[in-house]
Amino acid sequence: MSALFEPLKIKDITIRNRIGMGPMCQYSSHDGVATDWHMAHIGARAMGGTGLIIAEATAVTPDGRITPGCAGLWNDQQAEALAPINAFAKSCGAVIGVQIGHAGRKASSARPWDGGAHLADDAGGWPIVGPSGDAFDQDGTRLNKVPSAMSIDDIHAMTAHFVAAAERSLDAGYQLLEIHGAHGYLLHSFFTPLVNTRNDAYGGDFEGRSRFMRETVAAVREVWPENLPLAVRLSVTDWIDGGLTIEDNIQMATALKDLGVDMIDCSGGGATPAARASVGTRTADQVALAGELRAATGMITAGVGCITNAKQAENVITSGRADLAFMAREHLRDPHVAARMARELGVPPKNHLPLQLGFFVG
Ligand SMILES: Cc1cc2nc3c(=O)[nH]c(=O)nc-3n(C[C@H](O)[C@H](O)[C@H](O)COP(=O)(O)O)c2cc1C
Repeated sequence: MSALFEPLKIKDITIRNRIGMGPMCQYSSHDGVATDWHMAHIGARAMGGTGLIIAEATAVTPDGRITPGCAGLWNDQQAEALAPINAFAKSCGAVIGVQIGHAGRKASSARPWDGGAHLADDAGGWPIVGPSGDAFDQDGTRLNKVPSAMSIDDIHAMTAHFVAAAERSLDAGYQLLEIHGAHGYLLHSFFTPLVNTRNDAYGGDFEGRSRFMRETVAAVREVWPENLPLAVRLSVTDWIDGGLTIEDNIQMATALKDLGVDMIDCSGGGATPAARASVGTRTADQVALAGELRAATGMITAGVGCITNAKQAENVITSGRADLAFMAREHLRDPHVAARMARELGVPPKNHLPLQLGFFVG
């Protein structure tokens, strides 16, 4: 018996096991439209037995992309390109979700392999927005583009863009919707006091700083079907003095639960250059915080950060820290990581694989 290979039901959706692929930008879209790369990338992990696949941060507006190669759901053509990919993933037995978001003051960047720095407007970049006019990297040269502070009308319009992207996510066949509220991107940058210095209704105390996230989640919940799961990825700690703590995030998660959020995907960091990065070796201790949030709120949690082997993934579930073990980079190393972990835990992988594979090697 393996807890990792027990199914998980959230609303009307049953996930075949507790292994999730965390969202990962592929920097391979054209004008936000998915390409053959995405079919192969998502398809391979669905074939490999992964229970829940969350597609990369997908921008709700063109200026919400992290890089020019990032995915989008601001037009119907983008939803149409995603539909066959999602149909294929489902045909392999995976549940397919998407993370919708806006990169805020970290948008308009070069792809990581091109250095990842902000791109000037005349060099493939675009004007960026944030809670205030402060650049991410005020003392550095990487992400030092100055955002314009969003007006209240801008904030309301952005919430409407999230709603439109949620509707398109449904058209594209996604079964789970995740709102990106982490890593220093737009919604997190409003929530964290490290970035938000506003003194209007969208800044100041917890109520003010959390308002944009709460209003957006509430508006999205109106259009995202009640029987399908809604998740939010939070940076459950900013990992730095003066930033958000797990207690702040438990308060946020409690508010989101009341708004109909089913799951918190517990990531961390990314708010400022000094805060810990959201990818790296030091993300490992995030899983413990997923456990704290789960215990305090009773919500379904996904734990993520440096999970690479079967025993460790099994322990994420049996220890009660999370309901799903999300792996990002391990899925890049091995698209068949779920089948591999099943074998390692003595579970026949066949029930977690499409017949074309499972019949012969399960
Ligand atoms: C190539 C790559 C792209 C990523 N893109 C996203 C993203 O689109 N949205 C997000 O929330 N996190 C993103 N992340 C972070 C991962 O989802 C995950 O939280 C992080 O890599 C830690 O998990 P791991 O140790 O299993 O890789 C990305 C990570 C990598 C390596």
